[in-house]
Amino acid sequence: MIIAIDGTLASGKGTLAKRLAAHFDLPHMDTGALYRATGLAASLAGVALDDETACAEIAAKLDLSAYADADLRTAQAGQAASKVAALPTVRTALFNLQRDFANQKGGAVLDGRDIGTVVCPEANVKFWVDATVEERARRRCLELEKAGKPISIEQMTIELKERDIRDKTREVAPMKAAEDALHIDTTHMTPDLVMQAALKHIAQKL
Ligand code: C5P
Repeated sequence: MIIAIDGTLASGKGTLAKRLAAHFDLPHMDTGALYRATGLAASLAGVALDDETACAEIAAKLDLSAYADADLRTAQAGQAASKVAALPTVRTALFNLQRDFANQKGGAVLDGRDIGTVVCPEANVKFWVDATVEERARRRCLELEKAGKPISIEQMTIELKERDIRDKTREVAPMKAAEDALHIDTTHMTPDLVMQAALKHIAQKL
């Protein structure tokens, strides 16, 4: 069983992905981490984030284990991620990693922006997870505050909107819901309720 989860930043897609993976005992890939690590590595190496050849080389040699989760989670890494994610050769370089992960015997859960549309169009179950910008900004600010890297809600709202526009309007693999995805708006839902809705959908699908 392949479960594809796409959606906006801080919509709750990662939480749902982790919970579903634990529930069905499936491996989980947070594909955003691949783009974050590529963006971070390029920034650290002083490579311009629109230098397609150099960024694709970094993506092709990516060793995720070299990066601490906290460094990947910063707002800067997120912005860098969405810039390198717009480069077609970077996406190609990261495609096989994701495909191989999805092809594991027994299946997998992948979350990102183009899983149901490009990486795993054949997935058995697809979700599109979203919430209002205000709620997503509130959640992300809380997370960053806990991580000791506070940022104002106004600044976060601006960054979220910028990121949404860049991800939605890029030419290759833009962020969008697959036609056969179940849409979940998590604005007024707890993680438990989201999980219940997802499990109900999976039970109907299988
Ligand atoms: O999900 P996360 O916020 O970690 O993703 C960081 C960025 O990586 C996104 O804003 C998006 O530009 C890019 N991304 C992507 N395709 C994916 C996953 C993430 O383009 N499958």
